[in-house]
Amino acid sequence: MSVNLKELKRRRTFGIISHPDAGKTTLTEKLLLFGGAIQVAGAVKSNKIKRSATSDFMEIERQRGISVATSVMAFDYRNLKINILDTPGHQDFQEDTYRTLTAVDSVIVVIDVAKGVEAQTEKLVNVCRMRNTPIMVFINKLDREGLDGFDLLDELEQKLGLTVRPLSWPIGMGQRFKGVYNLYEQKIILFRPHGKQDEEDVVEITDLSDGRLDELVGTAAADELREEVHMVESVYPKFDREAYLRGELSPVFFGSAINNFGVRELLDCFVEVAPPPLSRPAEEREVKPEEGSFSGFVFKIHANMDPKHRDRIAFMRICSGTFERNTNYLHVRQNRKMKFPNPTSFMAEKKMVVDEAFPGDVIGLYDSGNFKIGDTLTEGEELHFKGIPSFSPEQFRYVNNADPMKYKQLDKGLEQLMDEGVAQLFVKEDNGRKIIGTVGALQFDVIQYRLEHEYGARCTYEGLNLHKACWVTAKDEKALKEFIQRRKRDLARDKHGQLVYLAESAWSLKMAQENHPEIEFHFKSDF
Ligand code: G4P
Repeated sequence: MSVNLKELKRRRTFGIISHPDAGKTTLTEKLLLFGGAIQVAGAVKSNKIKRSATSDFMEIERQRGISVATSVMAFDYRNLKINILDTPGHQDFQEDTYRTLTAVDSVIVVIDVAKGVEAQTEKLVNVCRMRNTPIMVFINKLDREGLDGFDLLDELEQKLGLTVRPLSWPIGMGQRFKGVYNLYEQKIILFRPHGKQDEEDVVEITDLSDGRLDELVGTAAADELREEVHMVESVYPKFDREAYLRGELSPVFFGSAINNFGVRELLDCFVEVAPPPLSRPAEEREVKPEEGSFSGFVFKIHANMDPKHRDRIAFMRICSGTFERNTNYLHVRQNRKMKFPNPTSFMAEKKMVVDEAFPGDVIGLYDSGNFKIGDTLTEGEELHFKGIPSFSPEQFRYVNNADPMKYKQLDKGLEQLMDEGVAQLFVKEDNGRKIIGTVGALQFDVIQYRLEHEYGARCTYEGLNLHKACWVTAKDEKALKEFIQRRKRDLARDKHGQLVYLAESAWSLKMAQENHPEIEFHFKSDF
């Protein structure tokens, strides 16, 4: 029953999100290099799930196996302990990313200067904004030609709904890229491709009318910078940390991750302003990190790649108190005590057993099937952390048993894979048939393969043309009953018995909403 305030205040736990290829992996790697957590570039990269592997799910599963090591990357920087939670870039694993975002205290969004805001950036930022997660933006690849800085800022505001404040500003781009002006500290940082960005590249110029600026970057670029900085200062609000912490203002940085340029500015600002571990809402009450009593929740489950060992690793975010090895904790859903002899922490490439962990930390717990996503451990209090929703899936298939002797294995396998969050299972209200809903098509292959190799069960799929599944509720019980009567054919239950409406098309969903105004349609499960 204690909390170590010193350790708690040292934690900064965040995620990096982006559309694939914007430079998330490269940026992560540069941050780890700064923190001394890795020695050579490429260490993270080699674990990345390559886009080219979309058709080869075995390769993806293999790489996912490796990626356990990079699920959490921790390093020390300026006496802070930074935890970067890895978010899979592959879009078929987007749900993993959504859930990981429940375990971070802030995020950095990476944008490709040439592509601007892309589809996946939008989806992921939306999830962050639902929780008011503080967001920083890094605009990457300034060594290439891209969109105009102001146009990009407009796009961030319009497409992502962010209020932005540039804290650095590029001097040219592509071939003409000279460096960035650090608006936060009023310094010019000059660009040298693949340079180490050492001291001599940084020139302090507090007054932009200083003639040295013209000497350094040329008069044309200097004048352009003066004009643009003037515009930035007159158009955008001043940086206000409190507004950033409330998720209402996003600082923006420009740079080139591969050239290690602008990354230190981002990191230095991050360690100064990013939030330490924040409170987390539970159904019962708000849980503060500085409370003495330990609590934590599981946000991700990773299966062992070795089919002979069906054990898994459950990733737990510590929310309050101190977690101790070999201590009895209450598994709230199962209402029983459990203790953990080998809780694991992750330091970049290294895994090690830890004796203690503090709020903001993520530990891996070896599990033989006791955990589901969202499960809570405490010292005895009945807490259920909120905000770990399922999202309405986009691809659907009926699942059939292909081996009548193995229906038990099939049921068990399906149940466990659903607990891991691989996909969602729905049971039709009219005929009891099972439907699997996923975010990406790849999961169907993963499920089939894993059922066979881990559970000895075989399944076949049957195509099903559905647009969306959404959860339905109504304040008026009679109206809900009537709706169920009339729409039985389009209804199913999720694993918690919640009622789900299966819409065949966007049009039929719209019609159902119009014809049943008393019914509420929800697109994620925590309403
Ligand atoms: P991701 O994790 O967001 O998917 O992106 P990742 O870091 O893997 O970067 C995607 C591609 O963009 C990589 O090239 C990477 O080298 C390149 N890149 C990252 N930062 C910069 C930058 O600042 N400038 C430029 N010009 N390119 C950048 P690739 O060809 O796909 O991979 P690789 O062969 O270089 O490893």
